[in-house]
Amino acid sequence: MNLLQKSLVLSSFLTVFFTLQALAADSAVGEQKAEPCVSCHGPKGNSSNAQWPNLAAQQSTYLANQLKAFKAADRINIMMQSMTANLSNEDINNLAAYFSKQDPVKAGGDPALAKAGQAKASMCMGCHGATAEGNGQFPRLAGQHPEYLERQLKAFKEGSRKSGPMQAITANLSEDDFKALAAYFGSM
Ligand code: HEC
Ligand code: HEC
Repeated sequence: MNLLQKSLVLSSFLTVFFTLQALAADSAVGEQKAEPCVSCHGPKGNSSNAQWPNLAAQQSTYLANQLKAFKAADRINIMMQSMTANLSNEDINNLAAYFSKQDPVKAGGDPALAKAGQAKASMCMGCHGATAEGNGQFPRLAGQHPEYLERQLKAFKEGSRKSGPMQAITANLSEDDFKALAAYFGSM
């Protein structure tokens, strides 16, 4: 093998190695780390109070992104700022793996509002998935507490929560639209 071939072999080996490392997030270790989360987010990320979002069955990439955003103060919430301050990247990946593997839950939503929401929801499915199950960086919305979803939509519109696509899409929606969409996704 010449030097170029050797370095190609080495670089593909390293790619595989680092990919495996990234995949090796340990949900059992995450479960132990998740103990302090239960008091707000509920057992296995199944929250009974709309103040605290369900984490169960949320996309692991999205969960890790949010925990990093809270830690870096790119997403502002005083409780989550303090909860993430001492988490390492490894802790974050393990927590995300753990919550993403829990069974999905269904918060429900007002049926009449949900029906109105369904009529507007097709514009959301391209990113959030046909059953709003999410994918990678796009969060699951299905079964989330409507009041929580509504609060986030308002925060994107006001710009207090940052996201290019969500700030753009909420710019042309009203508070009534938010209520209806939130009820629809919560009842999925
Ligand atoms: C004292 C209550 C409290 C505790 C304890 C807590 N959280 Fe939270 N968490 C919140 C609140 C409130 C929000 C919603 C913030 C908002 O409205 O933007 C939140 C939001 C989140 C989100 C964003 C969810 C989404 O759908 O965007 C994640 C992820 C999260 N918490 C993970 C955790 C983890 C992991 C732990 C444990 C290490 C934890 N939280 C502990 C109160 C708490
Ligand atoms: C172009 C892609 C795209 C479209 C279309 C889109 N979203 Fe999103 N949405 C995102 C991304 C990306 C995020 C995550 C932002 C972040 O990382 O903070 C998000 C986050 C959200 C959140 C926050 C969830 C949570 O757990 O905190 C809500 C609520 C939401 N979207 C609702 C909607 C609704 C309702 C629609 C349709 C009106 C919609 N989205 C359309 C890309 C999209």
